[in-house]
Amino acid sequence: MDKIISEGVGKFYQHFPAVATIVTAQAGGKENAMAVAWHAPISPNPPLYAVSISPKRFTYQLIADSKEFGINFLPFEAAELVASVGGSTGSDMDKFKRFNIAKSKPIRTAVPILEAAYAAYECQLVDDRGYGDHRWLVGEIVAVHWLKDVFTPDEVINLDKFSPTLYIGNELYITTSKDTIKSLDRKVYGRG
Ligand SMILES: Cc1cc2nc3c(=O)[nH]c(=O)nc-3n(C[C@H](O)[C@H](O)[C@H](O)COP(=O)(O)O)c2cc1C
Repeated sequence: MDKIISEGVGKFYQHFPAVATIVTAQAGGKENAMAVAWHAPISPNPPLYAVSISPKRFTYQLIADSKEFGINFLPFEAAELVASVGGSTGSDMDKFKRFNIAKSKPIRTAVPILEAAYAAYECQLVDDRGYGDHRWLVGEIVAVHWLKDVFTPDEVINLDKFSPTLYIGNELYITTSKDTIKSLDRKVYGRG
């Protein structure tokens, strides 16, 4: 296969699969949810998590006002939910009602947590910085909701129990297969 080298970057962000999540927020009596594929853990101590959100999103306004957000990780069965909240804006509808999204109660913030999530974090905003046409919102994780039973004792996803929702761009969602797991000990491999 020929490797193409180009200066036109194209859809560089589709060159790798991303985990499709749902970011939740509330402010002034309004609650909302949006799909987010651009996000990352930043630090375990203190626990920091960041999401990249366009300031055009209604969700951004809510986070800027309330200084908090939630991030929800969904099993593949709930992928349709990601497409629903990623294809609509909360500026003119209540997505929770329209898509019949079940919520569970937060404990340290007021952000809605999704009942369908196998893991979700409540975050308090500690930084909001512009990079290009998106905002990089860093939150301190102040509460974690997770289904302990779907993880192994080492806190790794147990693929016998469920599989996560990944996004490869162009409205295409995929998931993982436990048949592909490779256990590669970095200490062994790091020796060369
Ligand atoms: C799979 C998927 C991933 C997305 N990832 C992001 C993202 O990382 N950042 C972003 O600003 N928008 C992202 N979007 C777009 C928003 O989810 C979309 O614009 C949504 O309608 C915003 O809703 P709101 O206006 O209610 O906030 C994504 C959409 C989809 C379908």
